[in-house]
Amino acid sequence: MALSTENLPQQIRNFKRELKALCPDYKRRFEDVSRAMEAEIARIKKEEESGSAIPQFEFSDIADQGFSEQQRQQVHQAGCCIVRNTLPENEVTDHNNALSRYIIENGYYEHTPTVEDNYFSQLKSDKPQIFGIYWSPAQVWARQHPNMAVARRHLNRLWTWQDDEKTYFNPDQEASYADRVRRREPGDATLGLSPHVDSGSIERWIEPHYREVYHNVLLGDWQQYDAFDGANRVEVEEFPSPAVCSVFRTFQGWVALTPQGKGDGTLQVVPSTLAIPYMLLRALQDDVPEDDLCGAAPGRALTVFKEWHPLLFEGLVSVPKVRAGDTMWWHPDTIHAVEDKHNGDGYSNVLFIGAAPDCEKNRLFLDKQRPAFLKGESCPDFAPEHHERTYQGRATESDLTDLGRRQMGFD
Ligand SMILES: [Fe+2]
Repeated sequence: MALSTENLPQQIRNFKRELKALCPDYKRRFEDVSRAMEAEIARIKKEEESGSAIPQFEFSDIADQGFSEQQRQQVHQAGCCIVRNTLPENEVTDHNNALSRYIIENGYYEHTPTVEDNYFSQLKSDKPQIFGIYWSPAQVWARQHPNMAVARRHLNRLWTWQDDEKTYFNPDQEASYADRVRRREPGDATLGLSPHVDSGSIERWIEPHYREVYHNVLLGDWQQYDAFDGANRVEVEEFPSPAVCSVFRTFQGWVALTPQGKGDGTLQVVPSTLAIPYMLLRALQDDVPEDDLCGAAPGRALTVFKEWHPLLFEGLVSVPKVRAGDTMWWHPDTIHAVEDKHNGDGYSNVLFIGAAPDCEKNRLFLDKQRPAFLKGESCPDFAPEHHERTYQGRATESDLTDLGRRQMGFD
């Protein structure tokens, strides 16, 4: 049955009634998860004291040997990681400079927005400095770079991608998802993002496939919950919205275009895969109104609120200092935010590039995305601003390598 936005308060009431009947220990369950989450916060704080709670790896090690069992466990616990030197620093710096020229010389700043994108309007800080640019040579170069393919293959393989009967996705083949660009000026104090999770809000409780994904959290043994099990994930359906990602991603991610770290207006995460089980169970407790899921709203990011989830704010940490060409990856359930203030003295720029492995859902998306690429239109998942239709120097089909063509679904 298709997901319906009709009478959501009633749907939420029904869901809660049904679930509480099946799971009368929801209160004890939340207390247990809370204790485990407190232990996670203590771990995060301790790891931050001696460096960073975000696991970090060298691209060349991962390329040679993949993730070791220990590294795999680190990512499974933290729900995120940094892969250093994924792309060559000098080339990335050149592309960053060319991207600045591409944006400025083509008049991006003179354009008046015609489409109101209200995706982030519930998040307290103002809109971030994110550009609706999808087809610059820098982005197409990075998306189809062989090192990115290698990194993503190993990242995808941190997931369970098949069982005895079914292959959920192909970890070795990428479906290129055209995401945007962040270019943040030094001194900027208006463009942060409050902590949130993408890929669905209310859906996480009521959508049938998400109910399967989180079955162990809500009804089974929550300690057996595996955030990296691909079963049902590729079939999840989300409420349609102008800026909700409609592909399946094993990881959201970015490539650093400039050096940046804590204080430079960059990304923050809560590096624990226990945060979503915590949020799911929090919303079922008796102090939350019957028709509310701790403020979750359809078509928006799932927001972390001080009033409901104060514990999670204690685990929010900034990305440590990275250099141009390093990549940051986070699981689609990982809570993330953007620092309110950019106190550094250089631009803090990234290309958003995640990992979206080949599967039916992503192939259907590529069919919609290819014509947009050929016409220089916005990626069909985002506001239809179509800035680049007339841009000089935009990447075209002839700029795609064989790998890039496959990733775009041309062949
Ligand atoms: Fe986000």
